[in-house]
Amino acid sequence: MKLFMWVMIVAIAFLLVHSSSPPKRPPSMLFYFHSTVLNETHPDANTAQVVAAPRSNLTVLGYGTMVVFDDPLTMDYSPDSTPVGRAQGFYVYDQLTKESVSAIFVFTALFNQEDGFNGTLNFVGADPVLSPYRDISVVGGTGDFELARGIARLSTQSISGVTFVLKVVVTLFYF
Ligand SMILES: *[C@@H]1O[C@H](CO)[C@@H](O)[C@H](O)[C@H]1NC(C)=O
Ligand SMILES: *[C@@H]1O[C@H](CO)[C@@H](O)[C@H](O)[C@H]1NC(C)=O
Ligand SMILES: *[C@@H]1O[C@H](CO)[C@@H](O)[C@H](O)[C@H]1NC(C)=O
Repeated sequence: MKLFMWVMIVAIAFLLVHSSSPPKRPPSMLFYFHSTVLNETHPDANTAQVVAAPRSNLTVLGYGTMVVFDDPLTMDYSPDSTPVGRAQGFYVYDQLTKESVSAIFVFTALFNQEDGFNGTLNFVGADPVLSPYRDISVVGGTGDFELARGIARLSTQSISGVTFVLKVVVTLFYF
């Protein structure tokens, strides 16, 4: 009987510690997205262009080109600043008119921090890459971002060679 009670107490304590922490549900997030477009044989590649459109007049400005990435997210502009998670997803150049360049941008931001956020946010939207600011949708979230919806404002902070840095400012609401 005593043993049974101990087992119950330990089990309840375990449940309290492990399942009672509610989602943190932050109202906003700010992070920097570091992408380096290297071909798939490069040892440091974290972004690979995997599909190119068949050669046609439409391939001007990369129409139809798909790029898949698994990129680091950091707290500040510097790639050496505190890592906060990773962005995994893809973009496809999908604008026919040749005056500008736009891609559909689809990714999941994965956060797995001991003393920060733990969960995912899912992003999708049109990314007219030459505009100073682009707003895309946050269509959902899990873990600390459970049932999130929102808007993410993207702005390109720098482009050097094949590396670009995006600032991502996220405003979130919860259902
Ligand atoms: C891919 O990257 C490797 C390593 O930098 C380089 O040697 C190779 O020429 C590149 N291939 C193409 C098609 O750019
Ligand atoms: C593709 O572009 C070339 C050169 O501008 C042009 O001669 C040709 O008619 C175009 N083809 C199509 C299918 O539009
Ligand atoms: C994040 O949550 C998952 C699922 O609940 C869990 O398995 C993982 O250990 C957590 N990670 C951290 C760093 O707390």
